[in-house]
Amino acid sequence: MKTRILMVCLGNICRSPLAEGILASKLPSQHFSVDSAGTGDYHIGKNPDPRSIAIAKLNGIDISTQKARQFSNQDFENFDYIYAMDGTNYQDIIDLAPNGTAEKKVTLILNELFDGENVDVPDPYFGLENGFPILYDMLEEVCDTIAENLKKKHL
Ligand code: 4NP
Repeated sequence: MKTRILMVCLGNICRSPLAEGILASKLPSQHFSVDSAGTGDYHIGKNPDPRSIAIAKLNGIDISTQKARQFSNQDFENFDYIYAMDGTNYQDIIDLAPNGTAEKKVTLILNELFDGENVDVPDPYFGLENGFPILYDMLEEVCDTIAENLKKKHL
């Protein structure tokens, strides 16, 4: 049985697709599966934002074929770890959790680097172009830590 990790943001077109691609690139696919979803329904079925696709490609990662989907209750059963990009996403997921076991699966992603500080991955959607390289570096660093911890625990 693979260990299953879900990355969640609002639209599932900027942050979480990139987080999915970066984390998947750091984990052996025979033991881990990585997916992403959005708490919102604005972009269901769409490919990632071209700026996320471009920064991933620059770093050798292809996220261009991902399709946005909305987070659902079923995800609490289908995934072992759920990472929220910001505090609003975190609360929206927790509000859907059916029980404490489900709630415990959810972590604000940057708390893996800055334990207990509740730092958000800023939403780059309406920001400047240079928000995306900053986003990439942030996700690269935290996904490195997550991948190392997951490999220690599950391999
Ligand atoms: P994401 O960014 O949550 O990182 O995918 C956003 C994308 C779209 C919108 C908001 C955030 N939107 O409002 O359409």
